[in-house]
Amino acid sequence: MARGAAQATTPARTGIDMNRTIDIGRRRLMGAAGAAGLVTLFGRGNALAAEAHAAMPPTEATPGFRPDIEMDLDAVAGEINVLPGNATRVWRFTGRVTQGDPHALSFLDGSRHIPVIRARQGQKLRINFTNQLPEDSIVHWHGLHIVQRMDGHPMYAVGSGRKYVYEFVVDNRAGTHWFHPHPHERTGLQVYFGLAGLFLVSDDEEDAARLPRDELDLPLVIQDRRFNAANQLVYLAPGMMQRMMGFQGDRVLVNGAADYTRAVKRTAYRLRVLNASNSTLYSLRWSNGRPLTLIGTDGGLLERPMTRASLTLGIGERADVWVDFADGQPGDETALVAESYSPSLENITNLQTGAAPVAGGRPIARFRVASGATRRSALPQRLSSFPPLRIEDAVNRSRPRTVQLSMQRGQAMLNGRAFGRMDEVADDEKVKLGTTEVWEFANDASFGMRMAHPMHVHNLQFRVLERSRPAQPGAVQQALGAGLTDEGLKDVILVMPGERVKVLMKFEHYTGIYLYHCHILEHEDLGMMRNYLVQA
Ligand code: C2O
Ligand code: CU
Ligand code: CU
Repeated sequence: MARGAAQATTPARTGIDMNRTIDIGRRRLMGAAGAAGLVTLFGRGNALAAEAHAAMPPTEATPGFRPDIEMDLDAVAGEINVLPGNATRVWRFTGRVTQGDPHALSFLDGSRHIPVIRARQGQKLRINFTNQLPEDSIVHWHGLHIVQRMDGHPMYAVGSGRKYVYEFVVDNRAGTHWFHPHPHERTGLQVYFGLAGLFLVSDDEEDAARLPRDELDLPLVIQDRRFNAANQLVYLAPGMMQRMMGFQGDRVLVNGAADYTRAVKRTAYRLRVLNASNSTLYSLRWSNGRPLTLIGTDGGLLERPMTRASLTLGIGERADVWVDFADGQPGDETALVAESYSPSLENITNLQTGAAPVAGGRPIARFRVASGATRRSALPQRLSSFPPLRIEDAVNRSRPRTVQLSMQRGQAMLNGRAFGRMDEVADDEKVKLGTTEVWEFANDASFGMRMAHPMHVHNLQFRVLERSRPAQPGAVQQALGAGLTDEGLKDVILVMPGERVKVLMKFEHYTGIYLYHCHILEHEDLGMMRNYLVQA
């Protein structure tokens, strides 16, 4: 690793030099718009009480809220073993179930620092979050449809030693969601140093599809990291360049392990792949050249399976993949091969040192067939159904709400604006509860840096209506374009340079302030993020 190219930044150090004010979030919350979502809870006549209530982080359990599952979740400093030699200092989640199914919280294999929360649709959860980091934090449940106050907006960040009691009903359909910190300007750092987990929702429809389950249901969390000679994580170099380009590691970890290898039975598996990297895009394929069988995307199962020669996964995107090892002979090995791409679409695969390259990619997860009987299982041809979101229902079908993405002179912006006050919402960022709208993410600014931006919207899943391809995409862009997953219900969509992508979304159930942003975490931290307000 080039000396001086990146500065070693340990959590402890950054905790000292970048500790921030604890109360900004709460003070800003006093703004009228910040309390808007709570007016419905308290009734219009009592807006003041609602405002006072919104201004306080929920630090105690609500009497009368009876959770099916209750757990403690702490963000703490710790150490894990990733590479041979020194342990690596990280920030991580720890926790325990205090009520209900003890399996509702577990930790992934490998270095065992990646938590997995499992819940069923309809369950009530109470999660007692304690921030034991030396700086503000808050947890966002990426993909969950949830009231404003439980969504983990940065305005709710709590200081070191503080608690935040989350209480919510899981109303999503079955799907692979995740959670990560979301404090203002510190999301990239906190995720990078180890704070991210899965939030898996199950439901009756998913059960009926009879997919591989329990030990045959394997989450694969992909994250790239850079280590110094002492095995410590290295994050951003000083200056703007890496923030603009997005930070890339030179090793690709799966479930926190540098050499993820797993013995598999001679049967079918469900792999739930999450790209939880800060900035890197992946193109995934099987080492044996077989196509990938995609059964689900961000918001859960597709209606029916589909195949892809390769899968492109933007930051925050999930892919549910079905794979059958029934024909394998004991000892056979199949690997999931990944090519890593910077969102500026320069091929950076050569920077990866994890393993020998396979035609430009690296095996990041190896599956070795164990001996034992073969168990055949058929891939269901019908997986799920979801109500069609129809363009006819959009209130603005002929005038999409356009979000122009741009990067210039150290600024990453949406419609020429960066994230401002915690509760700032422009007039063109207000939508009406219960309506369906077309939004168009436009990555065709005629100025500034050309980069792919994975755009994410909080609180809902959308359908992709249309993707306009640029006239002359480069070779890398073409290859990645072939593996995109625009199907099913999405909450992150990769918008390539020169493209415009139209999505259809419905603002259901909850009024309040939610975020939409680029999920390149360095861009999010630079302010490529805005609020939108759902009004009654
Ligand atoms: Cu996964 Cu606003 O984030
Ligand atoms: Cu989110
Ligand atoms: Cu971006």
